[in-house]
Amino acid sequence: MAKNAVITGWGYYAPSRVMTNADLERIVDTSDEWITSRTGIKERRIASDGETTSTMSVRAGRAALEKAKMRAQDVQLIIVGTASPDYLFPATACLVQAELGATRAGAFDVEAACTSFLSALAIARGMIVSGAVENALVIGAETLSRLLNWKDRTTCVLFGDGAGATLIEASNASVGIESTVLHGDGTKGELLMVPAGGSKIPASSDSVERGLHFITMAGGEVFKLAVKSMADAAEEAIAEAGVSLDDINLMIPHQANLRIIDGVAKRLHFPSEKVFVNIQRYGNTSAASIPIAICEAEATGRLRRGDKVLLVAFGGGFTWGASVLEWYGAHDGVRPASPLDRARGVLGDVVERVRPL
Ligand code: ACO
Repeated sequence: MAKNAVITGWGYYAPSRVMTNADLERIVDTSDEWITSRTGIKERRIASDGETTSTMSVRAGRAALEKAKMRAQDVQLIIVGTASPDYLFPATACLVQAELGATRAGAFDVEAACTSFLSALAIARGMIVSGAVENALVIGAETLSRLLNWKDRTTCVLFGDGAGATLIEASNASVGIESTVLHGDGTKGELLMVPAGGSKIPASSDSVERGLHFITMAGGEVFKLAVKSMADAAEEAIAEAGVSLDDINLMIPHQANLRIIDGVAKRLHFPSEKVFVNIQRYGNTSAASIPIAICEAEATGRLRRGDKVLLVAFGGGFTWGASVLEWYGAHDGVRPASPLDRARGVLGDVVERVRPL
């Protein structure tokens, strides 16, 4: 059984269409000053007509596999964390599996709103460390622009689209994903939700007319609970990993709102210069925000081999969680053949020997 699960590949995709706060000023009664001071957001990416959660996931997933030097057909599990899947079913992970040609991979989605990526990471880690699979492609992706009421200024200014992916592999290294903690409080579900489109309120002309397919949110309540819950989960994940806050080189929080991020750092007495923030360019991309941030942190030299990283998220449900990992970096050197490949090689030799000349 593997000792550890490590991230060996990562990649992201952000739609090319940029929507600035000035663009939003032309759509709803808002201002760059209001959005910037309340949220830290300056612009966000919006999916074009042909783009969906699965197409963005494929782009991010492919980049992660390239970084890890792994072939799609060797991937054993694909988990997509999303609250904006292409369909109710089939799962977005199945669409990704087909498009990547990951013919041997199991595939399913995880829905825990903005905590979906962390939840998927926790599942992947558990399955890898238990020996159930040797690797998993874990993706966080959202097309929330399609669930927004573009006449509701209290929500439409907050969110953006995108996808981020990580390849997680079994490793005998002494470092890896060292803790994952997850929590939920379903009694607060109605404070942040999309009421219709499921089995309780199926789509009807009435549900569409009443705007029930859009995201609704009690922002103030979310704000208060997010800060406390994220800080508590961070402390729990750090304790479970057997480290202290001083050991953490970089915190990568879910990019919900700059004031929430600052609030978490302040509550933890964690230095703000060790907190990764890119919300100004993407808005809140929900499940995609942490894996996109991981990619940008690595690309800008903020994440180096051996760094201890704290991931922390909060989202609808309510759900929240955190994880501590030691950054391993890209897989270097020659990838050893998988047991299946080795078996194939032996079989190939036998076939070669018995094949008539
Ligand atoms: N532009 C201009 N004015 C606005 C806008 C806008 N886009 N949106 C709301 N306002 C107005 C309100 O109507 C209100 O006006 P009023 O006083 O005349 O009624 C005023 O601004 C203040 O509204 P509040 O809701 O009290 O503003 P607040 O300071 O709480 O900020 C915000 C709102 C940014 C949503 C905040 O509550 C927040 O960040 N909440 C967290 C929500 C969040 O990040 N959710 C993301 C999903 S969950 C997650 O990812 C963690």
